[in-house]
Amino acid sequence: MNIVILQGSPNHNGSTAMLVEEFARGAREAGHAVERIDVCAEDVNPCHGCVACGYGARPCVQRDGMARILDRVLAADMLVLATPLYYYGMTAQLKAVIDRFCSENSAITAKRLRSALITVAWNADDWTFEALVAHYRTLVRYLDFKDAGMVLGYGCGTPGMTKASGAMLKAYELGLSLE
Ligand SMILES: Cc1cc2nc3c(=O)[nH]c(=O)nc-3n(C[C@H](O)[C@H](O)[C@H](O)COP(=O)(O)O)c2cc1C
Repeated sequence: MNIVILQGSPNHNGSTAMLVEEFARGAREAGHAVERIDVCAEDVNPCHGCVACGYGARPCVQRDGMARILDRVLAADMLVLATPLYYYGMTAQLKAVIDRFCSENSAITAKRLRSALITVAWNADDWTFEALVAHYRTLVRYLDFKDAGMVLGYGCGTPGMTKASGAMLKAYELGLSLE
């Protein structure tokens, strides 16, 4: 499988990236190709909402780094959304990339991609990821993804906390479990 990870933290070596790398290690051991895209380092503007694309009939009028990301997503068999929790949702940078799926909405949906969610937060309360998980599940439903699993990093507020958490092993095991 060709797996594309949209890594949504601005911290290249932060807690999200740590779980992403553990997931990737497991997935590579299971024989898959993994590509990590750090979306915060990409030149991606927010969607202008002009709908010149006709939700997939025509290319986006914006000329920025999103064309390359869309090429990679359209070449993938699996898409991993990875994000630190920011005010109980995903980061704005990752959301901007997902909003820009708009110009390839039908093509992305038609692929019936496998998907996963990898996330970290400072909070460890049981309701920490409720809103993000609801959003992810709604995206899975709308974009016709096949969910392969979620790694919810409770109490992963710093790289040190994350290293000591059980989320590292869960991320590795999720990658390794992929068929
Ligand atoms: C702007 C901002 C908003 C945050 N919002 C939340 C939050 O709503 N709940 C939470 O538990 N942690 C929140 N955090 C903490 C981060 O999710 C946490 O520190 C995470 O480990 C950062 O991951 P990173 O190292 O990949 O950037 C927030 C951090 C920042 C910078």
